Amino acid sequence: MKARVISNQGIKGHYFKLFIKLTQKISYLPGQFVMIRPSDSTSSGIFLPRPFSIHILTEDNQIGILYKVVGRGTEFLSRLGTGSEIDVCGPFGNGFDIDLSIVPDEFIIVAGGIGVAPLPGLSELIRKKRPEAALYAFVGGRGSVDILCTDELERLGARVVVSTEDGSAGIKGYVTDALEGYLMQGSRARKSSLYACGPNPMLKRIYDIVDPYKLDTYFSMEASMACGMGLCMGCAVKKRDGGYYLVCKDGPVFNGNMIDFNDET
Ligand SMILES: Cc1cc2nc3c(=O)[nH]c(=O)nc-3n(C[C@H](O)[C@H](O)[C@H](O)COP(=O)(O)OP(=O)(O)OC[C@H]3O[C@@H](n4cnc5c(N)ncnc54)[C@H](O)[C@@H]3O)c2cc1C
Ligand code: FES
Repeated sequence: MKARVISNQGIKGHYFKLFIKLTQKISYLPGQFVMIRPSDSTSSGIFLPRPFSIHILTEDNQIGILYKVVGRGTEFLSRLGTGSEIDVCGPFGNGFDIDLSIVPDEFIIVAGGIGVAPLPGLSELIRKKRPEAALYAFVGGRGSVDILCTDELERLGARVVVSTEDGSAGIKGYVTDALEGYLMQGSRARKSSLYACGPNPMLKRIYDIVDPYKLDTYFSMEASMACGMGLCMGCAVKKRDGGYYLVCKDGPVFNGNMIDFNDET
């Protein structure tokens, strides 16, 4: 479908927030994503759409995307002005859902860099379904410029723990170190579910850290995507019990036990 840019502003560093107005009404689950492409791919030279998590869906049918400029597609996106037209497809994927049959006392969310984009939406869903549960948010990045959304998460009642690799904000170190430190305190008598979004090596490390604690884990996996709907086979990740999942169609959110994190493909 076609969409118009309502606003597209730099927040800090290479991070931008884009609002686009859709022509069709949609609903979504946090963690679902849209594929975005310039309407005029001939002059932009960008033919493949790029996947972005839905950060916000407003009541008047605007999608908010939080994005980081990393290459040609996102650089092009950052130059789009108000009123520009773009092509948007989706929402795709399964998204995060809250399994109330598990009834955790505590939700732990972990974000690495731009992986934070879908997590305020997830926190809102957690608050709606389990308002009384404890909510912890571990937000990590390379430096303070890579730490986003902490105000939104705090507003939703999350206890936010920031970590940066260069020590410019919060605890110095990887977000996984902060998580490990937290899990090592106390007896872990509480039933906890953990949700994470960030680079795949971060997800693998989390999987190894939480293994002894027997937490329910839900990971949003990263993959290069060309179609977003299960046609190109470009986004395969290895299943734990053999074979492959397509991140765009079977995911991007997987239970941690489903994925073979030792696969290097
Ligand atoms: C399900 C899903 C949801 C995503 N949501 C967001 C989001 O909300 N905000 C956001 O900023 N980004 C998000 N991404 C990543 C985003 O799609 C890529 O950053 C984007 O496609 C890069 O396009 P580009 O043309 O600018 O970069 P390219 O020129 O294609 O690549 C530039 C650099 O970025 C790396 N890169 C490209 N794609 C990815 C990727 N999928 N994962 C990790 N590194 C990549 C390349 O290896 C290369 O080093 C998401 C990815 C997926 C799979
Ligand atoms: S992106 Fe094409 S199959 Fe997943």
